[in-house]
Amino acid sequence: MTAEVTSSALREIPRGSLLEALGRMRRMRSRTLEVCRQSHERYGTAVMQSAGAFKIINLFGPDANHFVMVDREGNLSAKRAWDGIMGRVFGGGLLLRDGDEHKHHRRIMQNAFRKSAIRGYSELMGPRIAEGLDAWEPGRMDAFPAFKRLTLDLACSVFLGLELSREEAERVQGAFEAAVAASMSVVRLPIPGLEFQRGLRGRAYLERFFRELLPEKRDSSAHDMFSALCRAENEEGERLSDREIVDHMIFLLMAAHDTTTSALTSLVYELAAHPEWQGRIRDECQALDGPHLDYGDLGRVPNIALAMHETLRRYPPLSTVPRMAERDCSFDGYAIPKGALVVCFPIHTHHMEEWWDEPFRWDPDRFSEPRLEQRRHTHSYVPFSGGAHVCMGLRFAEMQVRSVLFQLVRRFRWSVPDGYEMPVQQAPISKPMDGLPIQLDHV
Ligand code: HEM
Repeated sequence: MTAEVTSSALREIPRGSLLEALGRMRRMRSRTLEVCRQSHERYGTAVMQSAGAFKIINLFGPDANHFVMVDREGNLSAKRAWDGIMGRVFGGGLLLRDGDEHKHHRRIMQNAFRKSAIRGYSELMGPRIAEGLDAWEPGRMDAFPAFKRLTLDLACSVFLGLELSREEAERVQGAFEAAVAASMSVVRLPIPGLEFQRGLRGRAYLERFFRELLPEKRDSSAHDMFSALCRAENEEGERLSDREIVDHMIFLLMAAHDTTTSALTSLVYELAAHPEWQGRIRDECQALDGPHLDYGDLGRVPNIALAMHETLRRYPPLSTVPRMAERDCSFDGYAIPKGALVVCFPIHTHHMEEWWDEPFRWDPDRFSEPRLEQRRHTHSYVPFSGGAHVCMGLRFAEMQVRSVLFQLVRRFRWSVPDGYEMPVQQAPISKPMDGLPIQLDHV
């Protein structure tokens, strides 16, 4: 499937007209799936857009995901692709490193994501989820901002291990949100008053904030992620420098926050639209003891796991995975030139009729025996990407979603009006365009 480009037998990637390419780019954000389906049908597995020397190559299907994510020959760079998107505000993060340097950092950081570490995070999280949900009142509410606030509060205690006052928490959250907004800005000039400049200021604030805490965290034996990262070392006893820890912490906050908020919101939507599944999950949660979901009980909520997998299939928080071609290479007989931005689309593969039965139906049982539709191809289900950069927070995310839903479903039932369909902005991070209004009632 992949090979160094040695022969002129390689095909040129189809381009389509400039007008079409502009239309595609404009619609890519809110209607990524529709654009991919049309392009795949019209052009096949690859299509190119170019502006002068800059080329974007969109690749479709599970083999394309394998090519982009696994990249055995080391043709593609995650760092150079993601640098262009968020390097100024989230530089130094794990996804913005390649090759041996990436391997070195990942090996050290892995210690903060071991089972024993996740158990510690889960114990910190349980009571904080309860506190967060105490503030939720029955009535009509927008689910997306409520989950955004809850996951940020959880991040303050689990990632940072801090009891921040409301004012302090708001300052950190404000800086963080400004940095995230800047990473998605269209105009990337450091001009006072512009979103991008506010993001750079937010990044600078977070750097100062983390640096001041470092000495205390270096000495701490606490279970929060910041302390765990300070203690983490590889087999040779090498640790991360102060600068590296700060860069990783800022990136981790971002990598965890918007993705988990997105997953929880989409899951709550589907459970509102499928009350029978909400009931099934409530029953399995009510059968367990204790106010919080114990780490040891994570495997005892299989219906949450199925519903979460299916939700990540329909609404992968990251609908696209980009890489930059470091050298000329090829995919499926097409020549990929050095310097092109190569993009694959988990959201599209998750909806291909070749790989899923009735892909537009939310049907969690497709992930259970005997169907196991996700096993039809190694790369047809990739909400957490794959290869060297596969999401490092996968187990953390699964724990957090189960823990939040466990408490939510035992306290509340929720619904959306008949016929309501959540309007989704599918990229860069999947989210409801209307905040997802739901009706919340006590159980
Ligand atoms: C439902 C929640 C989540 C989803 C869907 C998700 C998805 C992803 C994806 C698709 C990537 C790879 C992007 C690429 O290949 O270009 C990734 C990378 C990463 N994620 Fe997640 N993520 C989630 C939650 C988290 C959480 C909770 C954390 C941390 C606590 C986290 C930490 C990371 C890190 C560190 C990387 C970079 C890995 C590397 O470069 O080696 N993620 N995530």
